[in-house]
Parts: sequence; structure tokens; C-alpha cells
Amino acid sequence: MIYLDNSATTFPKPKNVYDDVMDCMKNYAANPGRGSYDMAIKAAHKVTETREAIAKLFNISDLFNVIFTSSATEALNIGIKGFLKRRDHVITTYMEHNSVLRPISYLKKRGIEVSIVKADQYGFVNPQTIEGMIKDNTKLIVINHVSNVTGTIQNIDEIGEIAHKNGISFMVDAAQSAGVLNIDVEKSNIDMLAFAGHKGLFGPQGTGALYIREGIKLTEFKSGGTGSNSFSVEQPEFLPDRFESGTLNTPGIVGMNAGINFINSIGIRNIAKHEMELTRYLISNLKNKDYVKLYGPELNNRGAVVSFNIDGIDSSDVAAILNVKGICVRNGYHCAPLVHEIIGTKNKGTVRVSPGYFNTIEDIDKLIEALIEINKGKI
Ligand code: ALA
Repeated sequence: MIYLDNSATTFPKPKNVYDDVMDCMKNYAANPGRGSYDMAIKAAHKVTETREAIAKLFNISDLFNVIFTSSATEALNIGIKGFLKRRDHVITTYMEHNSVLRPISYLKKRGIEVSIVKADQYGFVNPQTIEGMIKDNTKLIVINHVSNVTGTIQNIDEIGEIAHKNGISFMVDAAQSAGVLNIDVEKSNIDMLAFAGHKGLFGPQGTGALYIREGIKLTEFKSGGTGSNSFSVEQPEFLPDRFESGTLNTPGIVGMNAGINFINSIGIRNIAKHEMELTRYLISNLKNKDYVKLYGPELNNRGAVVSFNIDGIDSSDVAAILNVKGICVRNGYHCAPLVHEIIGTKNKGTVRVSPGYFNTIEDIDKLIEALIEINKGKI
């Protein structure tokens, strides 16, 4: 089996992730922060260690400003719905995933003003266009760092600078970039950073996190037990407890920590280098085939996500045939409907290949061979 759907979730995970999750499940999966016995203390300690590792990875100065969530989607919902108030204006883009577009659409029906900025045919959003849309009531700019359809990398430094200079909060959806590209919340003026634990960070599914800069006020999205201030019926105001009611996913969080340890042992640059070698190899092999239509940037400013179509064959048929050949890719709209207006695939979606750290050039060669056969088979 050749797995090429790492944008959806990375597979396989590094061995130390499996080992550490199993060790936690078997030996210390007590309730973190809820008990004074050794196992619960160890669980709480491991949760803090993970918060620390995340803070270090993204240059976050206070580890308690990182809250754990079940996914990047949940992190985005907490940030977007918790921040915006009636009559506020938010700017986002055509390149977003539904995890941004749907919360924003929900808020639009409740009196929030929305501007959605277009991108060029390669998926790049011009920061100046964003700046041109700023109004007196603009409170938030939300943008994804790397598109999950075209791999386009946005210029978050410049957009963050624009937000900062205009006194607007800046939120980045790093679902596709966390663990693969360097992200520095200070350098890019990021006020909220949402990411998954199970993609580039190599943790188990059901994990994610949100960084909330000091001073950003969000309404709580759920209330309940936090293990702190237990005698009060009021939700704590302080982070991370304000947003972490209910028992945490300790084994998942431990797995995220193991994933970050793995990334640190290899080096984020080396991970990106390997993934980009595979991506460049795939693109240069596909671009000279006249029956393949590629989308997104050619080679620069892109991540390891390649979308394409084969003339005359539906993307779902291509993916189904690849599956029979043991090759896993995603097809369709990838939960990012507006991107398809930008790249002209509204009626067909795309076949999406997303190589990961554990793929090899041989995997890409087998994919290319399979695509050649699929094209021959249609005649
Ligand atoms: N957002 C994930 C993807 O792009 C699930 O496949």
C-alpha cells in the first residue's frame, strides 16, 4: 500500500509515537490535573511537557496560552466564534477550508460583516488586497498558511504586519503547515494559531491546539470541570483552564509530544526538504503530460500538496482506480469549496496527492506509472 494522503492525516506515525501512546494508555492514563496520586501527576506533567514543546516550536512565550482541542477545526471554531461580536467585520479568503468558511458563514447570519478576498489562479492572496478591504469595524483577519488543495503558501509575514499596523487581530490556520514549515507567532504577528495534532505534528487523530495571544478575549465555548477552582460554579477566567473543560485526551496529547520530539530529532527543514523533493519530482513528471492538468503554484512557495485532473476522467474514478492499485489519494473538493472557483474545478474537483516524510521516490514512480496506465485505459 502506498499512502499519499498526508494532508488529511499523516500515516504511518513515527515509531516513538506508537510507543509513547501505548505506554501512556497502559501505565499512566489517569485524569491529568484531577488527582494527587503519582499516576495523575505524571499525566498532568506529560500534558505540560507537550504544551511546552508546542510553545517552543512556534516561539510562544507563555505555554499556558496554548489550549488543547480535538482538531484544527475545533481550534478555529473556538477562535473565530469566540472572538467576533455582532457588527464586527472579518476578512478571510477564497482559499480557506470549510473549518473557517462555515463558522464565518454561521456568524454572518448573526450580524457579523464578512469580506472574502479572491486569490490569483495559483491560489496566492495579495496582501495589499486584504489591506484595501480594511474598514473601521474590521476586527479579525483569518487565513490559511498552506492550502489543502493547491499547496499555495500565503505570505503570512506581510499579512500579519498589515493586521498589526492596523490594530486588527490575525488568525492563522496552520492545519497544513504546522510541523512542516517554520512558524513564529512573534515574527508573523499571529494572535491566534490553530493547528491539528495528527497531520504535520504526527500525533494521533482527535488532537489539535489553539494558541491565544495574551490580551485576546474569547467567549468560552464550553463550560465544565477543569480540576481547578472546583468549589466555584463559574468557569475559570485563566488559560488554559477556561477552554479545557472535560477530561483531556491525554494519550493523544502524549502522542503529539512524541510527534514533536520526532520532528525535532529530524529537523523541520529536513522534513520539508524531503517532502518538497517528492513534490517537485511529481510535478516535473506530470507537467509534461498533455493529458494532465495541474493546479496551484509550479515549484516555488508551495507545500507538499499536488492537485490535478486527468482529461476525460472524473477525479473520483482516478482515485478509485488508484485505490484498486493500492495507492491512497483524496479526490473531490477537499472541504474547500471556494478554491475550486479560483482554479476552475467547480464541476469536477481534483485528484489530490500529498506526500509525507515516510514516502519515497519509488512511491511517486509507482503513482506516475499508475496514472499513465489510467490514461491509456480510457482510450
Ligand atoms: N482537511 C483535511 C484534508 O484536507 C481533512 O484532507
